[in-house]
Amino acid sequence: MTTAKLTGKSAGFGRPRLSTKSTLKYLILGTFLACTAVYFVYVNDALAGKVDQIRSFHTASISHNLEKPIEKLIVHAQAEQTRLLSRQSHNLSTAAERYRERRGRHPPPNFNAWYDYAQKYDAILVEDFFDRIYDDLNPFWTLEPREVRRLSAPWAHEHVISVRNHKAILKTTSRDPMRRMPQWHRLIEELAQWLPDVDLPMNVMDESRLLVPWEEINRMVQEETAGRLVAPPSEVRTQYTGLPVIDSEPQDEPLETCPPDSPSRNTPPVDIYHDSVKMPTVYPVHSFEGYVQNWTLSKDSCQHPHLRSLHGAFIEPVSISTTQSLIPLFGGYKLSQNNDILIPPAMYLTTDELYAGRGDGGPEWTQKRGDVVWRGVASGGRNKAETWTHFHRHRFVQMLNGTAVHDFETASLAAEGTTFKLPSQDHYSLMSLRNGSLGGWLSTVTDVAFTNLECFPLPPMPADQHLCGYTNPYFAVRTQIPMHAQYHSKYLPDVDGNSYSGRFRAFLRDSGSVVLKATLYNEWHDSRLMPWLHFVPVDNTFIDIFGVLDFFLGAEGNGVHDKLAERIAREGRVWAGKVLRREDMALYTWRLVLEFARLCDDRRDVLGWVNDLNNE
Ligand SMILES: *[C@@H]1O[C@H](CO)[C@@H](O)[C@H](O)[C@H]1NC(C)=O
Ligand SMILES: *[C@@H]1O[C@H](CO)[C@@H](O)[C@H](O)[C@H]1NC(C)=O
Ligand SMILES: *[C@@H]1O[C@H](CO)[C@@H](O)[C@H](O)[C@H]1NC(C)=O
Ligand SMILES: *[C@@H]1O[C@H](CO)[C@@H](O)[C@H](O)[C@H]1NC(C)=O
Repeated sequence: MTTAKLTGKSAGFGRPRLSTKSTLKYLILGTFLACTAVYFVYVNDALAGKVDQIRSFHTASISHNLEKPIEKLIVHAQAEQTRLLSRQSHNLSTAAERYRERRGRHPPPNFNAWYDYAQKYDAILVEDFFDRIYDDLNPFWTLEPREVRRLSAPWAHEHVISVRNHKAILKTTSRDPMRRMPQWHRLIEELAQWLPDVDLPMNVMDESRLLVPWEEINRMVQEETAGRLVAPPSEVRTQYTGLPVIDSEPQDEPLETCPPDSPSRNTPPVDIYHDSVKMPTVYPVHSFEGYVQNWTLSKDSCQHPHLRSLHGAFIEPVSISTTQSLIPLFGGYKLSQNNDILIPPAMYLTTDELYAGRGDGGPEWTQKRGDVVWRGVASGGRNKAETWTHFHRHRFVQMLNGTAVHDFETASLAAEGTTFKLPSQDHYSLMSLRNGSLGGWLSTVTDVAFTNLECFPLPPMPADQHLCGYTNPYFAVRTQIPMHAQYHSKYLPDVDGNSYSGRFRAFLRDSGSVVLKATLYNEWHDSRLMPWLHFVPVDNTFIDIFGVLDFFLGAEGNGVHDKLAERIAREGRVWAGKVLRREDMALYTWRLVLEFARLCDDRRDVLGWVNDLNNE
């Protein structure tokens, strides 16, 4: 989504080669960081001219003002956002032009109706926001259209939404425990009047399901790129063919899903039954001085081999049923190695208060408590006596438990009940870490606990079912806190459960608090949210979380950094109100369906929308 990138320490920062322009316009961080405004002008001018050339972040002239890595990341995020917004399309011909530029094809048929809808609902249109669709679909261009149709045929799947003659048809022949299909069906139904015939096989399970070997996908992506075609307008067909009769079966093949040069490639599986927790205590790879700078890379477990023993998704998922061949399957979230096609998750489409919030937001920032609140169940996979210390939620809760951290600092936390390590002091230079007061301090700012220990096997006594013999000594079960009550806290962490966390959208849209987000899962919205501007990204080990909390809530936090936090909370909320609305999810899904239907069409190479080129 972005081209500019922070590189390492100050040595990596080149000199600005830039001119000056209207300064006030960019005075976004406010007076407390006045120098950053000058910085914005630099970055913007540079970006306007040479977006693609900027590979490093120019801070030489301001590094004495922006001491902290987190300050730099925040300023950088703002600049990136400005750059992105400069690419907004305000009319149909620009939208079509940007499409051709970025995708190397004509827009799909009926692109104008899609655009009209976007305009009607004041959607912010930046072509980059739809990158996910193309990352997901491009490999399918290497399959014959007939093959894609066959693989997505309603008879071949248990859960399918089809469109025929502008009607959405729901097929659900097995359990749909979370009632996901009706949500998706309703959305497609709202759009069906504009959609071509199509079959969309859906994944209703908690986990993503496709793992195609990396070599295979890489070959497909290259083949797709080579095959892109912007046909002369006169040769373009502007109507979908519709769906002919379809039949036959998918098959299987062997796998290695990480790229050859990634750290996780060929890593032997860890012995979580016998090894103690191996958690790196230094800066995570690809981080900027310890803090997440590339959201995509931070979620890619191929880059972080240690996550295999530090995240439930790799230890014991609750349900799993995967396939290794490339078949179309639509779902709400996936790991980087998965080849599922992303659509907005059903939970973001419900009005269920648990996930959707009530829309009334939290109190004003100044009325909120300067603390961190989290409640959730001990999910993240099926935790057992021998494996629970490797689970991410257990680690998260323990790391934010001041008592447990204090016990760790004083070496009185039992080794067999320890899920984490403290950051290396050479890397994360926190006063509290150095003088052994981290636990004591955390106790004053966090309220983080499980509401259910999800024991396996369950204790026999129904009355004790929220307890668990092996984790009882380390975790207290607390009562749930409704979402709107959580909004009274300034900081709301959001971590993966059995899969992605369905609260993220509501937190961003409603809370007016800062969301601290750690996840391994990719979602539809990834290219439209800017880490450090709309939320605070956290590494999946949580090694950086103390540094983050110290920055915002520590001694300095109550002054300047509290203002930065307030700004992230506000920006996140305002932005979510513009790009994460139901209308935005509809537009994303609509675009996805247009593209997928084109893929399934025998005339796909010449199918497109070219009215702008024909001067109509
Ligand atoms: C993140 O890293 C990927 C892979 O190296 C790169 O393609 C992408 O542009 C980077 N994103 C940002 C925001 O720097
Ligand atoms: C569309 O917008 C572009 C840039 O904003 C402008 O140059 C162009 O004239 C506009 N086209 C129409 C048809 O309004
Ligand atoms: C340790 O550092 C914290 C700041 O993080 C400070 O508040 C506290 O007084 C220090 N304690 C000691 C014993 O020096
Ligand atoms: C915090 O840790 C202590 C020590 O391990 C434990 O007794 C307590 O139950 C934990 N509290 C919560 C809320 O999990």
